Amino acid sequence: MPSWHSFLRIKSWSFNIMYSLLRNLLFILRPEMAHKVSLRSLALAERSGLGRLILKQPPENPVECMGLRFPNRVGLAAGFDKNGAYIDALALLGFGFIEIGTVTPRKQPGNPKPRLFRIPDQQALINRMGFNNEGVDNLVTNVSRSHYSGILGINIGKNMDTPIENALDDYLTCLDRVYSVADYIAINISSPNTQDLRSLQHGQKLDSLLDGICRRAEILSKTWMKKVPLAVKISPDLDSMAIEYLAKSLLNHPVSAVIATNTTLDHSSIKNSRLAKENGGLSGTPLKEKAQATLIRLNEMLQGSLPIIAAGGIASGSDAKTRISAGATLVQVYTGLIYKGPCLINQISCCLAHSSTCAGNTCQP
Ligand SMILES: Cc1cc2nc3c(=O)[nH]c(=O)nc-3n(C[C@H](O)[C@H](O)[C@H](O)COP(=O)(O)O)c2cc1C
Repeated sequence: MPSWHSFLRIKSWSFNIMYSLLRNLLFILRPEMAHKVSLRSLALAERSGLGRLILKQPPENPVECMGLRFPNRVGLAAGFDKNGAYIDALALLGFGFIEIGTVTPRKQPGNPKPRLFRIPDQQALINRMGFNNEGVDNLVTNVSRSHYSGILGINIGKNMDTPIENALDDYLTCLDRVYSVADYIAINISSPNTQDLRSLQHGQKLDSLLDGICRRAEILSKTWMKKVPLAVKISPDLDSMAIEYLAKSLLNHPVSAVIATNTTLDHSSIKNSRLAKENGGLSGTPLKEKAQATLIRLNEMLQGSLPIIAAGGIASGSDAKTRISAGATLVQVYTGLIYKGPCLINQISCCLAHSSTCAGNTCQP
């Protein structure tokens, strides 16, 4: 009679095979359509109860960060569920935390399509979505309707047509609206697809933005009688001096974490691809080295004074382990999930919980 262990192994293998078949079908569709279909199918699986039967939850491997207790170290990066419309469905996948957004004060369509491109041979994506979202009020309604009780990060940004000099107003509007429903709030100043947004990572602009946001957060903490940690999301395209300045500025403000990194504008690592010339942020495996280098420099500057959440090209347990060894406390995935499928979360979590299960790219039962 087969043991429970071998049943789980068979279940896990068949899930891997199922996902590779499904991925072949999804990859026939345009990337944005495939994303929508995947999210809707997952929502259906969640509502029907089927998801819970098929998907295995990762082992408990709790860690404290930003004053919060994360059940495991693997999170969903921002941009996957911009409006928080699929939180319960995504929770099925076993993430230690889910970050929704980027959300802006007013709804906006984002850039014209096509704006998302797959580069399968490099396990990469290029996107110039441009913060397409339904606006912050819609996101808050979605969060209030969800049943998710895990850790929820809300990533906030500015509208495309808000002049950069008035960016603070947009961040404050979002902060006011999301404060009571978020477990942490991510300040996105690193998307490459909103004009001048990245200039907020430097000099006086950075300092006054952080001043304004932290002051308002202090007031909100009294109003709501809870302190919601703030995390700042940075770009992988900062040079060493810029990272040094940023780190000092972060340490001068009551910020609780840094997320490193967003996508890169440097397409040199995919220069032979026919899509290399598409404008937008590159993510996935070709971003790995830059994201890792940014993390190392940041960690040198912060010396453990501020936790780092690593993102950028994490597509296996060993990728995640390398980031943790380089100073990250938590990791986030996006592009890896598209290519490897939902098993990736379990695989990374198992690897981080028990080093012996790190080998290979298949899910461990
Ligand atoms: C299609 C797409 C949309 C994204 N949208 C956002 C976003 O709205 N806000 C944000 O902070 N990051 C966004 N990102 C960046 C991811 O959160 C992540 O930082 C980046 O893709 C690097 O991780 P990865 O290599 O695992 O994808 C987006 C990435 C992709 C591929």
